[in-house]
Amino acid sequence: MEASLLRLRRLLCIVMAMLRDGYNRLIKDVRISVTDRCNFRCTYCMPSDEYEWIDKKEILRFEEITRLAKIFVQLGVEKIRLTGGEPLVRRNLELLVAELARIPGLEDLCLTTNGSLLSEKIEGLEKAGLRRINVSIDTLNPEKFERITKRGDLDKVLEGLFAAKSCGLGPIKINAVIERGVNDDDILDLVEFSRENGFSMRFIEYMDVGNTNSWTSEKLVSKKEILEKIRARFPLREVGRENGSAPAVDYEFIDGRGEVGIVASVTEPFCATCNRARLTADGKLVTCLFSSVGHDLKALLRGGSTDQEISEFVAGIWKQRKDRYSAERLEALQSSTYDPKQRKKIEMITLGG
Ligand code: GTP
Ligand code: 5AD
Ligand code: SF4
Ligand code: SF4
Repeated sequence: MEASLLRLRRLLCIVMAMLRDGYNRLIKDVRISVTDRCNFRCTYCMPSDEYEWIDKKEILRFEEITRLAKIFVQLGVEKIRLTGGEPLVRRNLELLVAELARIPGLEDLCLTTNGSLLSEKIEGLEKAGLRRINVSIDTLNPEKFERITKRGDLDKVLEGLFAAKSCGLGPIKINAVIERGVNDDDILDLVEFSRENGFSMRFIEYMDVGNTNSWTSEKLVSKKEILEKIRARFPLREVGRENGSAPAVDYEFIDGRGEVGIVASVTEPFCATCNRARLTADGKLVTCLFSSVGHDLKALLRGGSTDQEISEFVAGIWKQRKDRYSAERLEALQSSTYDPKQRKKIEMITLGG
């Protein structure tokens, strides 16, 4: 009895010591951008040809990213997703993956990619310890794919997707951002393709990320509309959000042939359970996808701070966090007062989604 009471007390102490933000949300997930460069120019993400790129010497080295990752894990992070720009344009990424895969307590190490360089790189990444990827494919029509990405080759991306499957990665998720009049007629093709080939399909509501994608609410195709389209052909059953906090709500097909997820940041915001931090390629800690500023961890890394000092700095920022941008956007959309240009946001290419 005494021993179990002691165990319970110890557990309570751990729970009380967990790092929580201003709305009681834990820090569980960090999205680490390894570069702001991308070889595509998707119309909904980074439509301009040129941006103010981060200077090469400001980009965190792999040792610096690994050091921060260990500090994040000590603060409670269980999942790290590597993003970009396009993460695979960063040379020797497998060396970073190998280091991160070795961190005790890190339960999930994954990557979001446009797939264009996957066929050459996936074997090395898998050997280094990568187990899971999400690949962006908005249409299976090659001409439309080139139009949306401005320079992408669909065949090359599909080659990479199947190479990842052959390497044994799983689940492999396909991300499609749906934009009205552009690819809302591709939804069922994408569902069929993913069901036939054992991929998990996810549809994403078009968001007003960054400052250049000319988002309007007319271009949005809501979760409700997307689901109605899919349901009419393939009956579905709701499963819910992974861990209660994932961006996607998952559904399984009644016939047992796979699943589909919807990320509905605009019509059904999920800020209340948002446990995600972001780290930019130049070492800024960002507490929301729609933030205007980040907090400089590189200055601490390169200025001689100890791990303890960096950890306290991160904890201090997280404790003050009160972001709920998507929830506020919905409130403003409902009262017709939303202006996507009102706040200058960090560009999507710097945050990797
Ligand atoms: P899983 O770990 O496989 O569930 O992936 P994920 O959905 O967390 O990551 P992914 O990179 O595949 O992102 C899918 C979509 O969700 C992208 O459009 C992201 O921009 C969006 N997304 C991810 N996290 C957030 C978030 O915290 N807020 C908002 N608004 N969108 C997010
Ligand atoms: N709205 C929704 N999702 C977006 N992504 C990029 N731009 C947008 C946007 N405007 C997605 C990409 C990729 C992920 C990192 O973010 O499709 O899958
Ligand atoms: Fe497209 Fe991803 Fe590159 Fe953005 S980062 S332009 S979504 S491939
Ligand atoms: Fe989290 Fe910001 Fe996305 Fe809300 S809008 S879920 S707070 S990242």
